[in-house]
Amino acid sequence: MGGATHASSIVPLDNPLMIQEQEELDNQNDQDCLSPRSREVGLLTKVITDCFDRYNKMPKTRIELYKVGKILGKGAFGKVNLGLHRLTRRLVAIKSTDKDQIKEESTKRKMMQEIDILKSIKHTSHIKLLETFQTAKHYLIVMELCPGGDLLNYVRKRRKLTEKNAKYLFKQIMQGIAYMHQIGIVHRDIKLDNILLDGLGKVKIGDFGVSKRVD
Ligand SMILES: Nc1ncnc2c1ncn2[C@@H]1O[C@H](COP(=O)(O)OP(=O)(O)OP(=O)(O)O)[C@@H](O)[C@H]1O
Ligand SMILES: [Mg+2]
Repeated sequence: MGGATHASSIVPLDNPLMIQEQEELDNQNDQDCLSPRSREVGLLTKVITDCFDRYNKMPKTRIELYKVGKILGKGAFGKVNLGLHRLTRRLVAIKSTDKDQIKEESTKRKMMQEIDILKSIKHTSHIKLLETFQTAKHYLIVMELCPGGDLLNYVRKRRKLTEKNAKYLFKQIMQGIAYMHQIGIVHRDIKLDNILLDGLGKVKIGDFGVSKRVD
């Protein structure tokens, strides 16, 4: 074993073209040995380092950075999917809006308002915005995932809540609403399917589609 020489490393040192070919072959062999996950990370890391080398900044987020999974919910103009960030492996929720469905300026403005409000809200009882980007067909909002789903399904499954549980949830909803009012935002669509639960069963208010800033 110790004396074995890797066939690909035997190259005539005086022929640069052959050396280059051999290096490419070696790289290919290295790639073949990698797991799909390592290859994926390698490719994305290369995209990021290339962008830093050329423009000295992070590349813009693209849908290729995410693996898009099952639908978590549907709404008026789009849907919310489970997403997996391919580099960080973080699970997220991706709300996508079909550009064809929001051609009217007023609808577009509402979506921008939703993003603007999400950006300014920093409270434990609210969904956290992670990033936004667009593809040719969709506007996308990446948010923290609420694996507990929405309260509508939560209540439907249990038929009724114990007083203790209802109090626990209601307190957090009220704290979230009070915070919004303090910073001059009215939600205007508080209902069970817009209130979500994180992995620990804590309340996260979402869907700021019709929210407004007030003075
Ligand atoms: N962060 C999240 N994690 C898990 N599920 C989510 C998340 N955000 C939304 N959902 C699911 O998707 C459903 C729809 O999301 P949301 O209420 O934000 O969109 P919408 O009702 O389409 O909004 P709009 O009023 O702008 O049309 C929710 O009721 C919920 O079931
Ligand atoms: Mg909703």
